[in-house]
Amino acid sequence: MGRHLTCPLRRSQLSYVVLFLLPVLFLGISQRFSERDHQITGSINPHEKPFMSIRDARSEENNQHDQKLRVPIRNTWDEEGNCWFSTLAEKQINCKRLFVNDIPYISQTASNKVSASVKTCSLDFLSSNCSRLKEVHGYTKWPITQEEKDFPIAFAIKMHKAVGQTEQMLRTIWRPQNVYCIHVDKKAKPGIFETVKNIGSCFDNVYVLEERLDVMYTSIDMMQTDLMCMKKLLEVNSEWKYYINFAGQEYILKTNLEIVKILKILKGANDIESYPYSPTEYIRFQYVHKRSPEKGILLKTETLKSPIPSRFSVEARTLRKGSMYGSFTRGFVDFVLNSEIAKELISWAADMYAPEELIWPSLSSLPEAPGNVLQDSYKYIKQVNHNFISKAVTWKWTRAHRCVGQYVRSVCIYGIHELSWLLIQPNIAANKFDEEVDQVVIDCLEESLYNRTFSQNLDNFNWYFYYHVPHVDGRD
Ligand SMILES: *[C@@H]1O[C@H](CO)[C@@H](O)[C@H](O)[C@H]1NC(C)=O
Ligand SMILES: *[C@@H]1O[C@H](CO)[C@@H](O)[C@H](O)[C@H]1NC(C)=O
Repeated sequence: MGRHLTCPLRRSQLSYVVLFLLPVLFLGISQRFSERDHQITGSINPHEKPFMSIRDARSEENNQHDQKLRVPIRNTWDEEGNCWFSTLAEKQINCKRLFVNDIPYISQTASNKVSASVKTCSLDFLSSNCSRLKEVHGYTKWPITQEEKDFPIAFAIKMHKAVGQTEQMLRTIWRPQNVYCIHVDKKAKPGIFETVKNIGSCFDNVYVLEERLDVMYTSIDMMQTDLMCMKKLLEVNSEWKYYINFAGQEYILKTNLEIVKILKILKGANDIESYPYSPTEYIRFQYVHKRSPEKGILLKTETLKSPIPSRFSVEARTLRKGSMYGSFTRGFVDFVLNSEIAKELISWAADMYAPEELIWPSLSSLPEAPGNVLQDSYKYIKQVNHNFISKAVTWKWTRAHRCVGQYVRSVCIYGIHELSWLLIQPNIAANKFDEEVDQVVIDCLEESLYNRTFSQNLDNFNWYFYYHVPHVDGRD
């Protein structure tokens, strides 16, 4: 009821064009400087209408001298006025103040807990009409540079819940030149797969796998879903250069243009964690492990495993450990799927504990593997050593950053207190976020990415970091 009453008023607000575009983004002129300051520290004025529809922005485009500087603000309502697009708009939250670590404002915002369940837009409603979904969620309005067109990327998302979060990720990274594969775990609650499929059906470059696994943690399933996505994406498109995989509750930290620039700096290297196993972990691959449906993990048996395939060894440090997520070159993906070496390793590893932590780092330690990262055995690429580009993760034992949100299974679930930290991380994505714990942190990251996509301002980019990770440094 309440919503119906306020609806016409809010809708009319949409027609205002309130965005003050600074003719120049740089801070040289003091008047502009203070305007920016005002945006950052100013109190929230409920009569302020900081949002402008994409349609308004478009109609204004012709009057603009320099379109690069335009940052159109997203719709707050869908076309029929049925639901809010943005919790930020509805709750009048100012992301800039959160990003600059304005502590009183952060505390005030945090006390008003906002989770995805307060959203009034239903994805099923939106995706029942593809043009509505694309319009309201801004899929088709991204400016795309030639550099991005020339460097398409393949993305895989492996999810089992939080469908809103997956769609938010997709709408942020979706570009027509890229390809996307989504695996929805068989365990997902009823309806989730159908919703994801409906969303996928709106795009000719989003593939929602029909074959679904009930993925058991620590089992080969974890990488089987990647193999399925890799195969699909290799088949459907012959252009993409890198494959990046995501867990369903990661969120992206870089724009598509920024990712393209990062991947180019890699000069054809894979970016995956890679380091030797500690001797106490050798039992993981010395003994056969069996699935325990009751415990939901693999359990060690007393049966010894067959010997390690001849191409790999612990002593030569070609049997290695790392994370299952990363950025892989197309050549490497092809090697993983089609080489005899990879097939042998994958089938050998199928009954070990956590094979997904062994296969990518081991394969990419081989000289014959495209994108191999380890010419020298001393090159350890490890998230805790801050030289792994693809992911930021805060573990309970991470010293460089203390989680202000909460730890779940030793991994930090980021909250709005972490925004100023997240903003300066060089990583492509961060794990993990939970729309039911803190939706605002995801929304503000999205707003920042959105603004950066339109401004294409790379002045604050940490180029140094990417050139000096061990798998890139010295590569030609
Ligand atoms: C689908 O959405 C578009 C854009 O919002 C709208 O113009 C169109 O009328 C809708 N179609 C149907 C069948 O509802
Ligand atoms: C994004 O741009 C809009 C319009 O210029 C501005 O109001 C908003 O504060 C910006 N948000 C961030 C996080 O920079």
